[in-house]
Amino acid sequence: MARTGNRTYNIVTFGCQMNERDSETLAGMLEELGYEQTDDRLAASVVVLNTCSVRENADKRFFGVLGQLKHSREEDPDKIVAVCGCMMQQQSVIDKLKSKYPWVDLIFGTHNIGEFPRLFANVRDERRKITEIWEGSDTIPEGLPAKRMYSFKSYVSIMQGCNNFCSYCIVPYTRGRERSRSPEAILEEIRGLAAGGCKEVTLLGQNVNSYAGGVSFAQLIRMIDEIDGIERIRFMTSHPKDLSDELIGCFRDCRHLCRCFHLPVQSGSDRVLADMNRKYTRERYLERVAALREACPDIAITTDIIVGFPGETEEDFQDTLDLVRRVRYDSAFTFLYSVRGGTPAAERKDQVPEEIKHDRFNRLIAEIHAIQEEIGKSYQDKVLPVLIEGPSKTDPAMMTGRTESLKTVDLPACETLVGKIVPVRIVKAQTFSLYGELAADRG
Ligand code: SAH
Ligand code: SF4
Ligand code: F3S
Repeated sequence: MARTGNRTYNIVTFGCQMNERDSETLAGMLEELGYEQTDDRLAASVVVLNTCSVRENADKRFFGVLGQLKHSREEDPDKIVAVCGCMMQQQSVIDKLKSKYPWVDLIFGTHNIGEFPRLFANVRDERRKITEIWEGSDTIPEGLPAKRMYSFKSYVSIMQGCNNFCSYCIVPYTRGRERSRSPEAILEEIRGLAAGGCKEVTLLGQNVNSYAGGVSFAQLIRMIDEIDGIERIRFMTSHPKDLSDELIGCFRDCRHLCRCFHLPVQSGSDRVLADMNRKYTRERYLERVAALREACPDIAITTDIIVGFPGETEEDFQDTLDLVRRVRYDSAFTFLYSVRGGTPAAERKDQVPEEIKHDRFNRLIAEIHAIQEEIGKSYQDKVLPVLIEGPSKTDPAMMTGRTESLKTVDLPACETLVGKIVPVRIVKAQTFSLYGELAADRG
């Protein structure tokens, strides 16, 4: 197939919302260079893989996808394969790429994403291979283009990096130290989004509570709450150690703040929490949850939990199960502890055997699902505001939308409602899915 004049790109994004947001920037830059998005990775003239290194699985999936590209890269001398993101901040990955994947054209990292157009043009016009990684950065570049995935909901990065160094986690090494954007830049971006029809913003940061752009995170939320057109404000992620009363107060006062809170606990055992360097106890965590529920009784609380952290005993695990029963999470992301080279926990000799990890993992999910099922049932017959997002993935004849608590609702509705928030009556509530109909009092 002749590909002369082919100017198409395909971006594969692994990992978290920060990476999804970064991929929107990469897409925006490629569009400015005259490239068009395609779903056909093998035929695309540019493929960018934006990687994640948080768990081993993400690493494996990256090398899997990269391997699939080898043939099409060799067939097409004009094709450019670029790799970026968190994995590239690790020397071991760069070494592996150089020895096993020498056909990769461009390697860059998390700190120099703003340099992508220049690096890309050099690779394309001079047909040379480039690796450029920055060790760190003090600022977040402003004014980069972005091709947004949706018009009605958007991610807005407010801070980057992490200073917490949880003992299991690679993120502080791949994303560098914390740095915050100015409130002016954030508000300007959100006003622009609102003018373009955006209804919902999700403020992103590894630890949004330590936002330090000149005002507090709670003050920033109050400012965003005043922006015309923004009907929903979400944020992630919060670290329990600095979840302030001031932020909890926002749930009392801010009209547009969604009544849901993602508060990763990681473990319910004080001993494990201390080993993880989380800097809070289960008591303190439960107290923060109680304070949130006092300020906002129907708030949906979700979390992240790691099972099988080095040294975790059955008793520690029972503490986690007990905490899960006490908090009654709306939903929880559960992870098997994954050894990450370079982190303190990776050095520990008391790693938990795989079969014990898996057994605990299964018991944990059973507990979480049982609670989720009960909570799910409580949605029955309620009328809730739902942001309609588009055709349902499971049934294209239906539309799908999201509640404030991020639950998906399928309902019969007209396509013209996409991007609108409408009242929906829940007619069938199942553990993982809600079915609804437009409530009569619409309008
Ligand atoms: N900054 C966020 C989380 C970022 S990583 C926070 O602190 O909440 C997302 C989740 O991945 C973490 O909450 C944790 O549960 C999980 N995670 C991180 N490192 C991990 C590892 N080495 N093994 C298993 N899960 C891990
Ligand atoms: Fe990782 Fe902890 Fe930072 Fe979250 S707070 S990114 S888990 S080091
Ligand atoms: Fe992964 Fe980097 Fe996000 S390691 S979870 S993509 S910050």
